Amino acid sequence: MELREVDQVLKEYGYEESAILPILQDIQDRDRYLAKEVCEHIAEKLSIPVTRVYRLATFYRAFSLTPRGRHLVSCCMGTACHVRGAPRVLDKLEMDLSIEPGGTTKDLMFSLESVNCLGACATGPLVVIDGHYYGHMSSIKIDSVLKEYKKPPKGEKDEGKTKKSGKSRKTEAKASKRKGPQ
Ligand code: FES
Repeated sequence: MELREVDQVLKEYGYEESAILPILQDIQDRDRYLAKEVCEHIAEKLSIPVTRVYRLATFYRAFSLTPRGRHLVSCCMGTACHVRGAPRVLDKLEMDLSIEPGGTTKDLMFSLESVNCLGACATGPLVVIDGHYYGHMSSIKIDSVLKEYKKPPKGEKDEGKTKKSGKSRKTEAKASKRKGPQ
C-alpha cells in the first residue's frame, strides 16, 4: 500500500490513536501484512512510538510483519486432533505447499500455520482455511480441499472481493448502521 493510501485510512479514522487496531486491521486486510515503512508512517502520523505499533503487530496473530499468502491454512495440532491423525494432515500440507508452518508459498498464494485447539475438537482432525472449517480431515481429503483454493480467482468475483476489502471498517460500520440490524 502506498503511503498516501495509508493516509486515507488514517483520515477515515480521524487520525485517532484509539483507532490503531482497526487501522492496522484495515491495512493488514488489504496488503496481507504490515510493511516496515507503513508501521513507521502510522507511528509518525499518530505521534506514537513506532515500538507501540510493532508491539501490537506482533502481539495479535491477525497481524503479520511479513507478506502472508492469499489463503491462510491453519492445521490444528491440539491434543484431540493430534491423536486422530493431525500430524499426517500437516505432513501432507507441508509436502503439497512445500513450506513449513509459519511459511508462505513463493507465489504468495498460501500461508501455513499449525495452531492449538480451535474449539471444534469433535470434528478433528481440523483444518481451517480462510475461516472455513474442514473437519474429519485426512491426508487424502486435504488434496481436494486445497485444489479448490489453488484455482485462480474468477476475475469478476475477485474484483468484488477486493473492492469490499478496500473499504475501511469504519465505512462498513456506517453502512450497516444505516441499513439497520439484519
Ligand atoms: S484439538 Fe483440534 S479443535 Fe480442539
